[in-house]
This record gives sequence, structure tokens and C-alpha cells, in this order.
Amino acid sequence: MADLVVRSTRVHTGLRELPAQIVIKDGLVTGLRELGETVVAARELDLGDQLVIPGLVDTHCHFRDPGFTHKEDLASGTRAAASGGVTTVFDMPNTEPPTTTPDRLRAHLDDLDRKSVVDYGHNASAVEPDLIPELAAAGAAAFKLWMSYDVERTYPHSPSTAVTDRAVLYRAFEEVAGTGLPLYVHPTDHELYNLNSSRAKEQWGVDPASYARSFRLGDSVAFNAAVATLLEFQRSVGTRLHVLHLSSVEGIRMVREAKAAGRSVTGEANPFAMFVTNDWDRIEQRGPFVLGQWVPPADDVAMWSAIVDGTVDVIGSDHAPHTTEEKLPGWKDMFAAPSGSPMIADYLRLLLTAVHDGRLTLDRVIELCCVNPAQLVGLTGRKGTLEPGADADFVVLDLDHVAPIDGSTSLYKCGWSPADGIVTRGRVHRTFLRGTEIYRDGEVLVDEGFGRPVIG
Ligand code: DOR
Repeated sequence: MADLVVRSTRVHTGLRELPAQIVIKDGLVTGLRELGETVVAARELDLGDQLVIPGLVDTHCHFRDPGFTHKEDLASGTRAAASGGVTTVFDMPNTEPPTTTPDRLRAHLDDLDRKSVVDYGHNASAVEPDLIPELAAAGAAAFKLWMSYDVERTYPHSPSTAVTDRAVLYRAFEEVAGTGLPLYVHPTDHELYNLNSSRAKEQWGVDPASYARSFRLGDSVAFNAAVATLLEFQRSVGTRLHVLHLSSVEGIRMVREAKAAGRSVTGEANPFAMFVTNDWDRIEQRGPFVLGQWVPPADDVAMWSAIVDGTVDVIGSDHAPHTTEEKLPGWKDMFAAPSGSPMIADYLRLLLTAVHDGRLTLDRVIELCCVNPAQLVGLTGRKGTLEPGADADFVVLDLDHVAPIDGSTSLYKCGWSPADGIVTRGRVHRTFLRGTEIYRDGEVLVDEGFGRPVIG
């Protein structure tokens, strides 16, 4: 007898949408049956016409734990994830201390085990190439590098998680290739960005608009030169390269070409760029609370085309909270305030709205947020899908819900969202992880530590 059967006229498995009964036993999807067939189960859930999709897999979030737990921690961040329909998370290593050594990675995974309410893995830092094989053996899901660090602020891009020396970067490519894991890189050429930020300051001062423009000087040369370097290193070494923050015409052209040549390259886009920082009025109105990087109109068109046509493989939330007190000084000097904003609870709502508006198909959203991120980290068939054999991770959606996003009612510690005020259509009603309901209408229903490791 099954533990649970879930019925809906609209089940999207990741591969197809169909009316179905999802049969669940021991936390796994054991079958998909036609509606009307007899299924014997201990519990039944009739969802009528509510859309059911696989739980989202977020390969890019910053939970601030350890070191910056006043912004977020592994419990609050994963609760917010559950509220956003995210059932598997992979957090980033720019913590304090950063996850640069096997001991720190093991301690971090133990901490996730105690605190996470969703399933989890961790992206270790690749700043010390010699430690990469040991980090992989200790359970890294992937590796992360920044190519640039902040000069006027100490966070979020600290020197301890960045590699500016090309020889060290090349060594990291070689060592990561040996592990078979993907290397995620934040592409910004350090010297070119510093040149551009000094030029922006000279020309426009230090307000948020100047900061926004600094990234795009020379038609995004700091971003594009970094992408060119990464693609050349990938060509030379063969590493599985995952290019983060794809949002420039030229960067996208280069990645598209590399993929067409059959190279092991994937691309990521981020909701803040798709819905927030591509809107200059919003940058002027919300300043530090949306920045991040500005996406000018031509880049926006290229980014959305890349998201639609498959050049972008994955949407990562890039959930990166900071407190209001930390952001406020950015109105005077954005170069000294932290960049990044929370997103993990909001991005599915924004994407469902894009589906409603005809900008993306539901199939594509599920590929970008469920199927492809699971594939990136070697979890095809287990996460990001509701086909038989998968973990029974799913989200029940309320597609008629219309309301503005309001970070003050979110489960974020920081209490604000860069998308505040954006009216969305569609929301997460309930979230299930391995067959257990973990979230419903604003409330997390399981204790810290319910999440399990997915790597190793
Ligand atoms: O603006 C950013 N903020 N970029 C990153 O790469 C990291 C993030 C953060 O951690 O705040």
C-alpha cells in the first residue's frame, strides 16, 4: 500500500504535463496513475485543478552562515526557500570563515544537517587548487570562484573567495576538471572593473546610479573579458564550466558559440536581473535595495532571448540578503554598501507571472528551475522531476493569486525584497519534500534539520 496519493488534473513532472495520481511510498514517487484508477494509499490528497510541479532546485544561494547570521542563517534561509517552492538548495562559500578547506566543508555540511528544512548540498570555494580533490571527497556539490574582490567594502566579495591571478585560476580549472564536478564562476575582470569604477566615480560620483553604470562601462568589458578568459580556460582544460550572471550581449554570444561547438559550458541567469535591475526607474526608486548589477535594454533583450532559447540552462536565485541598516548608506555611497538582495522566496512568483504574461512557457520555467539545475549537480531522476523513482518533492501552486510582493511579510531575516511592490500572479500554496508537507500558506511545518544531504 502506498503512503500517499496526490491527485490533480494538472501535474507537471518535469517532462510532461498530465492529469495524474502521484503515488508515493517511503518519500519516493513510485508511480503515476490515470485519474480514476484505483490506488490504495494510507492518505489521499485531492487537489482538483491545482497545478503541481517538481520542487525547485536552487544551485546558487547565499545563506550567510557562519559569520553573517544577522543577515540570514541556514534555518531562516531554508525556511524562506520552502516558502518559495525550493526543496533542494546549494549554498555558496562566501561565509566567514569561507568554505575553502575540507574541515570547514565538513563542519558546514554538519551545520546544514542540523538546521536546514530542505534537502541540501554546498558549493565549496576553489581558491586553493591543491585542496580541490579533498574538498570533492569531503562532499562538495560543485566549486565556486569569484574573479574579483571588493576594494572599498569587505563584503560580499572578499579577497578570501576570489582568484585574480590567472595562473591560480587555470590551476583551479585543472583540479576541478579532475573531480568531474562543475565550476561556477562569477565573471568580473578585477582590474577592468576597478578602472571602470574609478571612471564612474570621477564622472558621476558615488550614488546608486553611478554604481549601476560602472558595471556597464565599455559595453560591459569587465564582464565580457572575464567570460572570454573562462571560455578559453575551459577550451584548454575541458572543465565543466558554469558561467554565472549571464546578462550581456557579448557574454551571451560567446557562451552560445561555445555551447554550439559542443563544449562543456552551461549558463545561469538570475531573477534580480530578469525582473528588477533591468528597470532603471526601479534602480532610481529603490537604489541600494535592488543593486546588484544594472541590465541595460539591449542586454536585457539578449538575456531574455538566451533564457528562452536555451543558452541559459539554469536560473539560480542568487538569494543574497543584507540588512536594511547595511543597505541604507548605499544611497550616499553605493560603492561602500553591500550589493546583493534576497530572492529565494520570490522568484517562482515572478517566473509564474512571466508565464502568465506569455514571456516564458511553464515547460521552460520547470527546465530552468528544476530539471536543469538537478542535472548540473548530478541529480537527474532524483530531484527536479516527478517521474517514478524521484524523491516526492513537489509544489502546489495557486495560479489565481494576485498580489504585490511584500518582503516585510516574508520569512527572510532581513524583512525586505528587491521585488517589493511588483504585482505577481501565482504563488506557492503548499510545498512537499519527500512526501512530507513542509510548508503551507506562510507557515513552515517541519523542524530544523528535516533536510537531508543529497551529495555522497
Ligand atoms: O552582489 C552580489 N552579492 N554578488 C555576489 O556575487 C555575492 C552576493 C552576496 O553574497 O551578497
